Amino acid sequence: MKYRKLGRTGLKVSEVSLGTMAFGRWIDEQASAAVLDQALEAGINLIDTADVYGSGMDLGDPNRTGESEAILGRLLKGRRNDIVLATKVQAPVGTGVNDSGLSRYHIYRALENSLRRLQTDHIDLYQVHGFDAATPIEETLGVLDELVKQGKVRYIGCSNYAAWQLAKAHGISALNRLGRFESVQPEYSLISRGIEQELVPFAESEKVGMIVYSPLGRGILTGKYKQGEQPQEGTRLAAGEQRLKLLLQKNPAYELVEAIRPLAEARGWTLAQFSLAWVLSHSYVSSAILGASKPEQVRDSLRFADQRLTIEELNTIDQFSQNISLIR
Ligand SMILES: NC(=O)c1ccc[n+]([C@@H]2O[C@H](COP(=O)([O-])OP(=O)(O)OC[C@H]3O[C@@H](n4cnc5c(N)ncnc54)[C@H](OP(=O)(O)O)[C@@H]3O)[C@@H](O)[C@H]2O)c1
Repeated sequence: MKYRKLGRTGLKVSEVSLGTMAFGRWIDEQASAAVLDQALEAGINLIDTADVYGSGMDLGDPNRTGESEAILGRLLKGRRNDIVLATKVQAPVGTGVNDSGLSRYHIYRALENSLRRLQTDHIDLYQVHGFDAATPIEETLGVLDELVKQGKVRYIGCSNYAAWQLAKAHGISALNRLGRFESVQPEYSLISRGIEQELVPFAESEKVGMIVYSPLGRGILTGKYKQGEQPQEGTRLAAGEQRLKLLLQKNPAYELVEAIRPLAEARGWTLAQFSLAWVLSHSYVSSAILGASKPEQVRDSLRFADQRLTIEELNTIDQFSQNISLIR
């Protein structure tokens, strides 16, 4: 495993990190343990979770009990020190008016709950899960700055922010002498390239770490879904993941998979290996957050993760992506 610096900070993160959205949602604690062990054995040091990850997500249950964090807290006992632990706050964890968002009230309560579930006294990277237009950014950044000063949080980051939102937040941090978001966590893969126009140039210019999620397009880029066919049992599409369904419907997903298949085969790689290598071939990516429901998937995906695609391969993909209007 190789390690990259997170933006302008001195923190080094594995270039592939483990996402734990599946823990307690699609896989139980035992299966989660096997996935986590495989990831740590491979040298992954950055583990990403969120206070909302858990079983309620597909069931439409508005009361989130944080199963992913709770499982992770139990599994990390005795090995917490070597991990860069990242979690998130902002999405609704209940039906109350203050059960979501980025107010002082909600952030303090959410952090205490995350620390308790994760069985730790600090979060290494505390990320806001999305923009909250209803709360002044000064309020949010003021609380986050306090949490860093109290030692409960080491670094702060944001997720699902547009470039202008991150620029606004940075401006407010600078004006008020508050800590700034040192990382941003957007979706990025061969099938989701929207960030290339605004967010990537901004993050590069301001040296913001980019921790990108769903590098395998939630499983689409492994080629496991076939047009017009029922998904296999045990997959997230069969489990009803809404955002995966949307990604399949909105994008020329199947054409893209067929276009990259010969490129992956020419290297003797699986589609998962090729798709992950494509993400990591971009130097502005600090870490790609891989998801997995089985340890074999982690092993397979990581096999060639230290290799980069050639300029010719990247150009061929860009040309095809332009032809099917995935990028301009
Ligand atoms: N900030 C946000 O809003 C946000 C949103 C989404 C995700 N995330 C973060 O990003 C993490 C990763 O997201 P993701 O799970 O969507 O990422 P992903 O890596 O794009 O997709 C992972 C899925 O791909 C399949 N897979 C992985 N390796 C495979 C292999 N070698 N062969 C066959 N199939 C393979 C598995 O699907 P099956 O399980 O169906 O077999 C797995 O669940 C999450 O856990 C979370 O931490 C953040």
